Amino acid sequence: MRATPERLHGSVSLPGRAAILALVLEGAAAVMLGEPSKTSVFRPASSEAGAIHQYSLLILAITGAIFAVVFTLLVVAIVRFRRREGDDTAEPPQVYGSDQVEVAWTVIPVLIVIVMSLTTARTIFEIQDRAKPADALEITVIGRQWWWELRYPQLGIVTANELHVPVSDREHPAATFLTLQSADVAHSFWVPRLAGKTDLIPNRINHTWFDPHEPGLYLGQCAEYCGTEHAKMLLRVYVDTREDFDRWVAAQRASSEASETVAAGRRVFQTTACLNCHTVQGTVGNGRYGPDLSHLMSRETIASGSVPNTPEMLKAWVKDPNVLKPGALMPAMQLDEQKLDALVAYLGSLR
Ligand code: CUA
Repeated sequence: MRATPERLHGSVSLPGRAAILALVLEGAAAVMLGEPSKTSVFRPASSEAGAIHQYSLLILAITGAIFAVVFTLLVVAIVRFRRREGDDTAEPPQVYGSDQVEVAWTVIPVLIVIVMSLTTARTIFEIQDRAKPADALEITVIGRQWWWELRYPQLGIVTANELHVPVSDREHPAATFLTLQSADVAHSFWVPRLAGKTDLIPNRINHTWFDPHEPGLYLGQCAEYCGTEHAKMLLRVYVDTREDFDRWVAAQRASSEASETVAAGRRVFQTTACLNCHTVQGTVGNGRYGPDLSHLMSRETIASGSVPNTPEMLKAWVKDPNVLKPGALMPAMQLDEQKLDALVAYLGSLR
């Protein structure tokens, strides 16, 4: 049924409307009380995000106070001086110029702006001047339309969209330093609970860092409009305990040997256009235009965090990426059903 405005209006009965209202209220309550947001700037989980949070509270307090004063004066003016029955309509006395008032409303805002500028500069320098410790983990993040290439040069790991980093606690401080680059247009790296936005700009190298205080999954998002699928350029940062991180590193560095049972799919991969864009270690595929698939199954999502990494989704993706992510730069592979299944089985073996 097509939902024309009349139909929508006409078809929702009173109990129906009550149910919708209940749903909306429930949603609002969940936002306010329930599951805390994974992307809230008010729940910083690293030193960098903490510095930005502190600073934002100060700015919020200053602007909140200004709002309260202006709004109170506005309400007082509206209530006290509103037009009343029997008012004479003659022009009221006109008052011009008051040195005291003019000095006050010039000097006070100037002082406020100075305080805000100085605290901004202090926060920026506090974040940017952080010296890189000798044992810092280095990751190169390359923004692409519309996914994230992630390279760990010290560890020889290449992966995509899902970052793994070690947790940083008092006994084992572990800072992660990121080098940000772009392969095409401007993108922006933003994981609100870990680090402020930093742009990835073509022909320029930017840096940021974080030292996550608690293990867990932190979500992020490209924060600079970069084309059709900007909204599906999601980021996942897994902050692991030291042991989990070491285990992840070992698994990523191990060779992903395919068993004989998926030989047919491996053949499809090696004899179609897949290998022009994708790398799988140990095969002739060494393309870099698309994500490295050597350990594809170690990732929980595909299509840059937009869908879960399940055999059904993988199959739908290979068949025609545009169904899941319209505008994706990977072409539909035009494989027959048999080859498609073989290929998906092969991809499913890349652990
Ligand atoms: Cu990349 Cu928006």
